[in-house]
Amino acid sequence: MKIQDVWTYKDPQYPVYPTEKNHDMLRLIIAQSSLPDSTILDPFAGSGASLLCACELGRKFIGIDQSEEAVRGIRLRLKDCVFVDLMRA
Ligand SMILES: C[S@@+](CC[C@H](N)C(=O)[O-])C[C@H]1O[C@@H](n2cnc3c(N)ncnc32)[C@H](O)[C@@H]1O
Repeated sequence: MKIQDVWTYKDPQYPVYPTEKNHDMLRLIIAQSSLPDSTILDPFAGSGASLLCACELGRKFIGIDQSEEAVRGIRLRLKDCVFVDLMRA
């Protein structure tokens, strides 16, 4: 189906991080703008929602965030994904 200009996704009602974005919207953006062997970069990863969606779509991903709270949440959120945690290296 052709994607329209106006999107009506709602942010999660009970976000794990204050600025968490809608996962269906993130999945659509990633699926439409990358190839299966692409690497998704989110340099302001926050909740890690984009990284989780990238993982679910089988994409490689790189996430960065300056907040320790965010990084702690991202680690929990990505527990079922394979990733290298450079903060722990
Ligand atoms: C709007 S939130 C990210 C929202 C994210 N897309 C989500 O779904 O949760 C912005 C994030 O960028 C991080 N941030 C701000 N400045 C930064 C910087 N200079 N380097 C790394 N992270 C930064 C903040 O800690 C915050 O978690």
